[in-house]
Amino acid sequence: MEKRKLEGQIAIVTGASSGIGAGCSKELAKAGATVVVNYPVPGAKAMAEAVVKDINSTGGVAITYKCDVSREDEVKQMFADVVEQFGTVDILINNAGLQKDAKFTEMTLDQWNFVIGVNLTGQFLCAREAIKEFLRRGVNGKSKSAGKIICMSSVHEVIPWAGHANYAASKGGVMLMMKTIAQEFAPKRIRINSIAPGAIATPINHDAWDTAEHLQQLLKLIPQKRVGQVEDIGRAAVWLASDDADYVNGTTLFVDGGMTLYPGFEDNG
Ligand code: BGC
Repeated sequence: MEKRKLEGQIAIVTGASSGIGAGCSKELAKAGATVVVNYPVPGAKAMAEAVVKDINSTGGVAITYKCDVSREDEVKQMFADVVEQFGTVDILINNAGLQKDAKFTEMTLDQWNFVIGVNLTGQFLCAREAIKEFLRRGVNGKSKSAGKIICMSSVHEVIPWAGHANYAASKGGVMLMMKTIAQEFAPKRIRINSIAPGAIATPINHDAWDTAEHLQQLLKLIPQKRVGQVEDIGRAAVWLASDDADYVNGTTLFVDGGMTLYPGFEDNG
């Protein structure tokens, strides 16, 4: 049998109790990775456990780990505990993210700070700990890279989004953080890339596809005329984390059914 693409590698997936994080965890486990299914608050524990159970049922290895990625002390502890338990970390899927939408003039500082804190500062804190570990360990024979980071961005790293200034700003920030650290650490054989999902059916955008009418509106924005599934993102994450993507560094892979192709121009302009 051909060796699985991520055999024996240790992956931390943040925000993995639901949505894209849960989908990535399952695909990474199928590819042979041991997965740390991170969840943010006690209330999400049962969902994280369900993800682990699902992985275990197909012979995969995973554990749950509670950590709020916006808190420096908790992030440091998570990386220290994972390194102690599994020896190292090979892959970070920097996924945890949320929305707190509001009209700009009504957006509170709390809404702004909460989204920036999780989506951008959280990715910074986790990337920093991951890179420190990658540098300590170096290339270990499990991969051509000393470590891989995949930042979960969004089509909104390039598409402005009225009513979501905090979210769009966080993803624009993720884009340049990702490219900047990719430039800094490529000489150390660390690969850092982003995935920019379009509309993927998850709890975050439930309102956008829950009724036939909403779905019809949403599909106008997607040339491929289907809403994405978490597996679409999970498979892209496996590829980016694997040696098949060894020469891919500092780039954003859009997985969006063409959402960034200006579909409004299809029959117009
Ligand atoms: C957002 C979703 C939205 C999608 C496309 C994502 O980043 O979280 O709510 O449906 O972008 O607009």
